Amino acid sequence: PASAARDDEGELYIGGVATSELRERFGTPLYVLDEAEVRAHAARTRDAFRAAVARRGAKARVYYAGKAFLSTEVVRWVTDEGLAVDVCSGGEFEVALAAGADPFHMGFHGNNKSVAELERAVEVGIGSIVIDSLIELERLAAIVERRGAVQPVLLRVRSGVHAETHDFLATAHEDQKFGLSLVDAPDAVARIREIPGLVFMGLHCHIGSQIFGSSGFTESASRLVEVHAALLEGGDVPVLNLGGGFGIAYTSVDDPEPIEQLADGIVDAVARECEVRGIPVPNLAFEPGRAIVGQAGVTLYEVGTVKPVVVSDDVTRLYVSVDGGMSDNARPALYGAQYSARLASRTSDAAPALVRVVGRHCESGDIVVDAEYLPGDVAPGDLLAVPATGAYCFSLASNYNYTPRPPVVAVRGGEARVIVRGETVADLLARDLGVVAATEGEK
Ligand code: LLP
Repeated sequence: PASAARDDEGELYIGGVATSELRERFGTPLYVLDEAEVRAHAARTRDAFRAAVARRGAKARVYYAGKAFLSTEVVRWVTDEGLAVDVCSGGEFEVALAAGADPFHMGFHGNNKSVAELERAVEVGIGSIVIDSLIELERLAAIVERRGAVQPVLLRVRSGVHAETHDFLATAHEDQKFGLSLVDAPDAVARIREIPGLVFMGLHCHIGSQIFGSSGFTESASRLVEVHAALLEGGDVPVLNLGGGFGIAYTSVDDPEPIEQLADGIVDAVARECEVRGIPVPNLAFEPGRAIVGQAGVTLYEVGTVKPVVVSDDVTRLYVSVDGGMSDNARPALYGAQYSARLASRTSDAAPALVRVVGRHCESGDIVVDAEYLPGDVAPGDLLAVPATGAYCFSLASNYNYTPRPPVVAVRGGEARVIVRGETVADLLARDLGVVAATEGEK
């Protein structure tokens, strides 16, 4: 985060709090989230899209994609900054509700929402449900009919654009599970419009995640506007939702476009296509997740062991093992994601050594930072900071090897407080009914 700074002794501070203090008070591994940074990204993203859309005479709504990092506190920060919230499961929906967020300012995604989840969303009055399949369309139709409810919906489509990112993160080409093919959209929308309890709001497309450059977004937007224009012939289409996916810098080689420029490019593509088709620019919606929280998060680890491994005649790699790993950050194992690491507790004049920061789990793919140069005297007890871990680390965390998940601490203006407590061994055993029986047997 922007607030990361070193004091005179070389110790790293985040949000004005010394990393040694964070370790002492909360232990490691530790997720640290910089509140001011989350808020700043939320506000900047909101303003970028609002301004770009306003220049073309329409309105923008920015949803925070909660899957990136969701807790009640974070929901409060982003809604405070004027963002709506996008959820993709009943669980995420309940967290957002528990935060006191207005359900009318929420959207609900997912390719296989359960009937119970749909019922609950309709009952509470969620702002929009993004229909992902024809089967779901009929399910939702039955629910609104039975309840006599009126539910605004969007239709998720595949624009056919294959985003340039890890293949697991591309979501708008034909051969993947989300949405309907764009060619099938008009029939599906006609069906939605037949159902009195469903209000068709518009098309939705999310091309993928961690995307650099605007060409994928602009190509997708142009294709969507073509169908959006055709749908206007059958009735009102108040909005076009272009999803999220804006890439962030994880290491110094990543160079994302400023969000203002990206927003302008995307909205420009929409406006041009609208002009060609002689239709007004629709209100637009966006759903950034990573771009809001990614860079606001830092994970702190303590070094446990250091092991030099001779890789070839002239390369020795230091394997630096930390007290977390793929259970708190699955992204390197899942997507080959690259991170960086810094010595947080001190600086050192020792010559830099090639290190691989690895976790404590029982597999060799348990890598935190694949390749990094750290001072060659890195040693047990040192504190390491891994930046840009605010998105999809906490949310993808697991209990692999029965590892308790770390707490999340929010820092702001020199203050630190726990916003999600860490798990304990008692939490790990709580679901194991055999343990309960054994203890009872002893009595
Ligand atoms: N909207 C929809 C419909 C989505 O499916 C997603 C992400 C987003 C918005 C937010 O995308 P963002 O702005 O955060 O890129 N676990 C992966 C990322 C999966 C993204 C899934 N959908 C990772 O760690 O990179």
